[in-house]
Amino acid sequence: MNPRKIFDYAREAEAILILNGGENNLDKNFFYLAGKEGGLYEGSFILAKPDSVTIFTSVLEEESARNTGNKVEIFHSRDEYENLLKNALKDVNVVGLNYSSLNLEIYKNLLKIIPDKEFVDVSVSISEARRLKTPEELNYLREAAKIGSEAFDPAIELLREGMTEKEVAANIVHEMMKGGASGPSFDTIVAFGENSSMPHYSPGNRKLKKGDIVLIDYGALYEGYCSDITRTISFGKANEKTKDMYSVVYKAQNESMKAIKANVNGKDIDKIARDIIDASPYKGRFIHSLGHGVGMDVHDHPALAPNYDFPLKANMVVTDEPGVYLTGYGGIRIEDDVIVKEDGFEKISKGATATIREV
Ligand code: GLY
Ligand code: MN
Ligand code: MN
Repeated sequence: MNPRKIFDYAREAEAILILNGGENNLDKNFFYLAGKEGGLYEGSFILAKPDSVTIFTSVLEEESARNTGNKVEIFHSRDEYENLLKNALKDVNVVGLNYSSLNLEIYKNLLKIIPDKEFVDVSVSISEARRLKTPEELNYLREAAKIGSEAFDPAIELLREGMTEKEVAANIVHEMMKGGASGPSFDTIVAFGENSSMPHYSPGNRKLKKGDIVLIDYGALYEGYCSDITRTISFGKANEKTKDMYSVVYKAQNESMKAIKANVNGKDIDKIARDIIDASPYKGRFIHSLGHGVGMDVHDHPALAPNYDFPLKANMVVTDEPGVYLTGYGGIRIEDDVIVKEDGFEKISKGATATIREV
């Protein structure tokens, strides 16, 4: 990643320091700046200046770090870590930190190592930079969406009565990895029947029955970039209510997507979908936002939501995912990923049908 792009936003900082903790406390911005997938980089840090990026890591990650093409410095002990950090910042007074991910333990240690610096929060600046994708990032996102889209049919061909939601989730992840994904971009949601009324349901041991709604929300990770796709189908014949719910959601997605282009406000796009659903028998049952940005994080900036006043810009990538959810009955969601263009949009995930698919 060319660090200049970030400093166009983070003008307040002389350098940006991203510090990783353990496996559950890694900062995506580390990988955004490093610019290449591969390596875990626990306890490592990265320093960006307007014309350079340097990775500071242990010998464990040395080869991965050198493969990124950035400058690399290796520490072998805690003392060396601290000395490298002090030395790297000796000519810097104002250090940008990502306040939204830095944990208190790391921050308190940092204050001991470099007590004399001024810190500024660059979390908003970095997310502003990250929401505008480069051509290379757009290609990774297109590929993540393609892998996700193409994994669906082979996974669905394996559906059998009596299968569990967990088995279906395993099959779709398997198909995505066969197609080139490095893994799923988030924990796959597979919900059968009445379970599909919970938008963030976790797959369980519920067995598939004829006539069930099957909602699958899944995505591929490719070169560190995510797709986020939802398909809802019927296992066997769908009843009239399910068909009607699907048609309303499809219309809400189709009409709202047509409005996506640069300078249109996300909340106005949300309203198009919400008005269609609220004019149907499912009024009030669209219980989440219409969409969100997608990038290295599956929930990236910006949001397409009723109270989020934000005009879209070209080269942002967002989801369009209306849904209706009826407790005790089930839910329907259709989710696709689109690139915002100056005069329209490019839909990068494929395969949603206009009427509910019966398999
Ligand atoms: N996969 C969660 C969502 O669609 O936002
Ligand atoms: Mn989504
Ligand atoms: Mn999703």
